[in-house]
Amino acid sequence: MKYTVLKKTDIRISAIGLGTNAVGGHNLYDGLEEKDGREMVRTAIGHGVTFFDTADSYGHGRSEELVGEALKDYGRSQYVLATKGGSDWRTKTKNISPAYLKKALDDSLSRLGLEYVDLYYLHHMDKTTPVGEAVAELVRQKEAGKIRAIGVSNVTLDELKEANAHGDVNAVQLAYHMLDRSIEKEILPYCVENDISIVAYGPLAFGLLGGTYSSDFRLAPGDFRNRLPLFQHGTFERAIGTAEALKKVASEKGTTLPNLALAWLLAQPGVDAVIPGGKRPEQVTGNIPAADLVLTEEDLAKIAVILD
Ligand SMILES: NC(=O)c1ccc[n+]([C@@H]2O[C@H](COP(=O)([O-])OP(=O)(O)OC[C@H]3O[C@@H](n4cnc5c(N)ncnc54)[C@H](OP(=O)(O)O)[C@@H]3O)[C@@H](O)[C@H]2O)c1
Repeated sequence: MKYTVLKKTDIRISAIGLGTNAVGGHNLYDGLEEKDGREMVRTAIGHGVTFFDTADSYGHGRSEELVGEALKDYGRSQYVLATKGGSDWRTKTKNISPAYLKKALDDSLSRLGLEYVDLYYLHHMDKTTPVGEAVAELVRQKEAGKIRAIGVSNVTLDELKEANAHGDVNAVQLAYHMLDRSIEKEILPYCVENDISIVAYGPLAFGLLGGTYSSDFRLAPGDFRNRLPLFQHGTFERAIGTAEALKKVASEKGTTLPNLALAWLLAQPGVDAVIPGGKRPEQVTGNIPAADLVLTEEDLAKIAVILD
């Protein structure tokens, strides 16, 4: 495993983290087994993963409970726990007002069974709260010892600049994968220039770069990916074509498509970690070798031709 440090902190994280929206995330995926979720967390930590990503809205709190339960068996310095707040599922609204965040963080800590979280993200913006006010609240929570680092997710460049007006943002979590490179234009260069870690979510294109789907693949009705543009008719079939071409590059290199996809992200400037999700422990172990997969200039050039 490769380890990096979250920008402007002394928090060491594994470059391959674990995304846990499928750990207790019954509102996002149908038919999850909670025992698989707990087992995935334990398997990950057993294989050198130290960076765990959850959110209060995954499973409406259940993901935090299960992740917290699984991590109880390990010392607090053995893992880095990131969670997010700002989605009030009870009222189906986005809310990053200081008062809401303060309570949401306390609730997350209680579900996780922790005294502090290592990295706390604003999950997204809301319609009314200036992001600077939300970040100021997180700074107060940091001073109170309840969080160690501050992140923002799903932001535009302008929102990120406002959030980072006083240099308080340590990490930005955004969708970034071989099939969606939109952050490369503005946000990625801003993060590199301003010393902010990029944490790539959906790094396997939400499963499409796992190498197991074909064009006749259909999602279950209750699967959140039904809402993603990538899974819409037409776009999906084109993406499968790209994935097939990338699979050939992976096989020539003696690796798998998901490993190629994760190693490619880690080779991009500013990307300090990727947080692939999974539904079974063997998917987690399957992703670990990506940390040590070195892509040569020649490999990157071959990939660029396919992606351009
Ligand atoms: N900040 C945000 O708004 C936001 C939004 C979304 C996600 N996230 C975070 O990012 C994490 C990752 O995103 P994601 O889970 O949605 O997408 P992802 O990591 O791109 O894809 C995960 C899916 O890929 C498949 N997979 C995983 N490992 C595999 C392997 N070794 N071989 C083959 N297939 C494999 C599994 O799907 P199948 O079993 O169906 O094939 C798995 O559920 C989440 O868990 C969450 O923590 C954050």
